[in-house]
Amino acid sequence: MADLQEAENWVYNVLCSEKSLDKQIELYNEIADTYDKMCVDTLYYFPEALSRELETFNLRRDSKILDVGAGTGRLGQLLHLLQYTNIDALDGSEKMLQHSRNLPNVYKNFTQALVVADNELPIPENTYDVALMCGSGGPAHIDVTAYKQLIRVVKPGGQVYINQI
Ligand SMILES: C[S@@+](CC[C@H](N)C(=O)[O-])C[C@H]1O[C@@H](n2cnc3c(N)ncnc32)[C@H](O)[C@@H]1O
Repeated sequence: MADLQEAENWVYNVLCSEKSLDKQIELYNEIADTYDKMCVDTLYYFPEALSRELETFNLRRDSKILDVGAGTGRLGQLLHLLQYTNIDALDGSEKMLQHSRNLPNVYKNFTQALVVADNELPIPENTYDVALMCGSGGPAHIDVTAYKQLIRVVKPGGQVYINQI
C-alpha cells in the first residue's frame, strides 16, 4: 500500500485544488485507470457509507436512480450487490465512465455530461426517483449552484442525496 499521508496529500493538493472544470475532467481522464487503486490507498469509503445509508431510505429495489459523477462505478457495484436494479450513470469524464460501462449488469444507461449551473442535462425532467452524488461535489467538482440541474431531473417528492469531498 502506498504511504497514506502521501496519497491523502495528493487528493487535497491536486484532486481538490482550485482549477477549471475542464482541467479537472482532463485530470480524471488521466487517472481513470488508476482511480480504483487510489481509492484503496486513501481509504476512500464514501460509496460504502452512502450505500449503507441509502438502506435507511427504504427505497423500492426498482427505484430509478441516477448515480451522478459515477466515475468507475464503485457506488453502482455496491447498489447492484444490494439488488437495486434500475441505476443509470452520469459523469463528465468519458474515461471514468468507460469503467462503469464495462461493469456487467450494474448500470442501464450512461450519460456523459457536465453538471454545471447554466447547462440543462440531456435528460428529461422528472425522470428519477433518486439522484445520488457520491464524492462528486466539492472544490473543482459539482458546485452547489448546479444542484438545480439535478433537482430538475428528479421527480416531485424524489430525493437528492449528496456526500461531498
Ligand atoms: C471523486 S470521483 C467519485 C466517483 C464515484 N462516485 C466514487 O465515489 O468513486 C468524482 C467524479 O465526479 C466527476 N465529476 C466531477 N465534477 C463533475 C461535474 N461538474 N460534472 C460531471 N461529472 C463531474 C468526475 O469525473 C469523477 O468521475
